[in-house]
Amino acid sequence: MSSPSTPKLLNLGLFFIKRSDVFIDLTLRLQADPDARYDYSKLYYSTGFLSKFNEEQTICFKLSLANAHEQIRLLIPEEARKHKWIRLRLDPFVHASGSCQVEAAKLVAEDANEALSRHAYLLALKEWTRAKVVESETEKRAITPHPPESLSLELTAACNLQCSHCSSHGDIDEHRMNNRRLAFDGELLESLGKEVFPFLTLINLVGRGEPSMVPLALWNRFFELCDENKVLVTCVTNGSFVKQRFDAKKISMLDTLTFSIDGMTHDVFTHNRRGADLDDFLNNLNYFQEIRHGLNVLRKPRLGLSWTLKRNNIHQFPDFVRFAIDAKADLLYVRHLLLFRPQDADESLINEPELTNRYLSTGYNLLKGTDIKLDVPPLSLDKAEAALA
Ligand SMILES: C[S@@+](CC[C@H](N)C(=O)[O-])C[C@H]1O[C@@H](n2cnc3c(N)ncnc32)[C@H](O)[C@@H]1O
Repeated sequence: MSSPSTPKLLNLGLFFIKRSDVFIDLTLRLQADPDARYDYSKLYYSTGFLSKFNEEQTICFKLSLANAHEQIRLLIPEEARKHKWIRLRLDPFVHASGSCQVEAAKLVAEDANEALSRHAYLLALKEWTRAKVVESETEKRAITPHPPESLSLELTAACNLQCSHCSSHGDIDEHRMNNRRLAFDGELLESLGKEVFPFLTLINLVGRGEPSMVPLALWNRFFELCDENKVLVTCVTNGSFVKQRFDAKKISMLDTLTFSIDGMTHDVFTHNRRGADLDDFLNNLNYFQEIRHGLNVLRKPRLGLSWTLKRNNIHQFPDFVRFAIDAKADLLYVRHLLLFRPQDADESLINEPELTNRYLSTGYNLLKGTDIKLDVPPLSLDKAEAALA
């Protein structure tokens, strides 16, 4: 069965469920269309001959390899196992498009393939967590009676840079104090790995410091635990250590790597990212680009670019957008400067709506028609609007 370059639903047929059957084994070959952003595939199941497929009866899963046979094992849902028959329908490219070949689809019992079975149980746990999160969000619960599906971790508060606007490193005393703080505790990481990681889909490496500056043993162990538990990673970085700390394996485990840039010329970049060098930054970014584009994977790790809007870089915002388009960035994260020190007030654009809007609107116009995901501020209110607001 195949669907050449069309994101259509594929009927896999009707399967008799034996008492010993526990899993659905699928062997698929998927190739996403160029520029299509594959995220996941979805299997619909239905237990009656005549009942319709619906969004309540689905199993979501991610395949890894592009244009290669890949076997995936999924747990037959508990409710379906009460029935004698199950009908299956596959949506290989949810929100994407491409071609799909179904090489095998069958129900199987527990067997010697422990790795495949463990993966099936992990996926089922993550699906369960997702359903619980939706339930908690719908009910607007303040306290959730289930583990989270994503987690933000600060592996270190230390940083090699002293960005002028940074609340944690912009001042020499703060910088020294944060660089003396202990890195994330190894034992705590182990217990999180055991107790929480299996439920997670994503871990976000954030915080005051440069995540990739954490001691190497902890860094490697963190990625090992993510790999064992099939957790994707997002990370915001100043780019200094990408070559040293991210090999192809680690890059393949990234959902998104976001580079903070804050300046398009040597002088503005160096002023805002004190201690960094623009050529070195670009070198590291190019390394990431080469590896991510060279991976034979369906879900390419995404490139994010972050920009803090300041008086000294607002005129370079359109160039930043052109750069992002050329680099085929997937996400732009733009923020106004947050003021932590009185002496930084002159860098704020809060009282400069005309100046800000001139460059922001040029940049936003350039982005029209692109599919770059935007997490950016709206245009500023002018002074008269602000007075009425
Ligand atoms: C604190 S850094 C930590 C991650 C990493 N070391 C980096 O440089 O991206 C995270 C992000 O916060 C931004 N940031 C720092 N201070 C800020 C401020 N005062 N206002 C707005 N954004 C700020 C940085 O530019 C960076 O993009």
